[in-house]
Amino acid sequence: MLYGRRIELKKSLTDPERTPLIELRGVTKAFGDNVVLRDIDLTIGTGEAIVVAGISGSGKSTMLRCINGLETIDGGSLTVGGRRVDVTGKELASLRADIGMVFQQFNLFPHMTVERNITLAPMKVKGVDEKAAKQRAKELLERVGIPEKASAYPADLSGGQQQRVAIARALAMDPQLMLFDEPTSALDPEMIREVLDVMRDLANSGMTMVVVTHEMGFAREVCDRIVFLDGGEIVEEGPPEEFFTAARSARAREFVDKIIHH
Ligand SMILES: Nc1ncnc2c1ncn2[C@@H]1O[C@H](COP(=O)(O)OP(=O)(O)O)[C@@H](O)[C@H]1O
Ligand SMILES: [Mg+2]
Repeated sequence: MLYGRRIELKKSLTDPERTPLIELRGVTKAFGDNVVLRDIDLTIGTGEAIVVAGISGSGKSTMLRCINGLETIDGGSLTVGGRRVDVTGKELASLRADIGMVFQQFNLFPHMTVERNITLAPMKVKGVDEKAAKQRAKELLERVGIPEKASAYPADLSGGQQQRVAIARALAMDPQLMLFDEPTSALDPEMIREVLDVMRDLANSGMTMVVVTHEMGFAREVCDRIVFLDGGEIVEEGPPEEFFTAARSARAREFVDKIIHH
């Protein structure tokens, strides 16, 4: 059923009128002499799910951090929903409020209940009233499969449950897009699946997602396109099947070989 829906969605994605949501044009980023992103051109459409792959240090996290304005870019232009991300103050805060981010470390507030973790930002940043925020938290906890954990504290939860709360917390802001930076890398193997399942459902619901991950099964089954970074450059970009079976660059083929045979 889900796949049928996905295919419908995919069709709409090839619609020429589909709006690009994220546009990187000649984006460059350096830390001192270390050029970390080189002339990145990338367009991500509304509803697309992209996996960003590459070895450690290739610039994946930096690219995500530039997309939500956590890092400033040194050259080129980067827009989200037509808005430039190299802004400051209120404009930046408003842009960030529309972008959900999930990190490897779940970063929940340890002294707050799960429910409070989820309701805090909508109430503080968006002025949502408490009753509505709690109702939304309840729905989101159901969506990520842990409705019974509303009054638990993060320390009472497994890593997989904490990461699902982190996803629910990001969704509570009704983001335009979701960025994931190795969301399952800190998890025990038995908990990876439950987090990836939530992410798959999210992709199937049409959320625009940019996911840095080494989970190539997820990439293969869920994402629309893989972007492979090497030394801060996009050296390969295409549908997962093409990436896994017919990568053009030697670096990408080497990466695929390593990851598939381990
Ligand atoms: N805040 C920072 N200050 C200085 N160098 C950084 C910073 N963040 C990342 N780098 C450098 O940028 C390069 C790419 O890092 P990163 O984007 O984290 O790669 P990846 O996520 O692919 O492992 C690395 O050489 C890293 O050392
Ligand atoms: Mg990283």
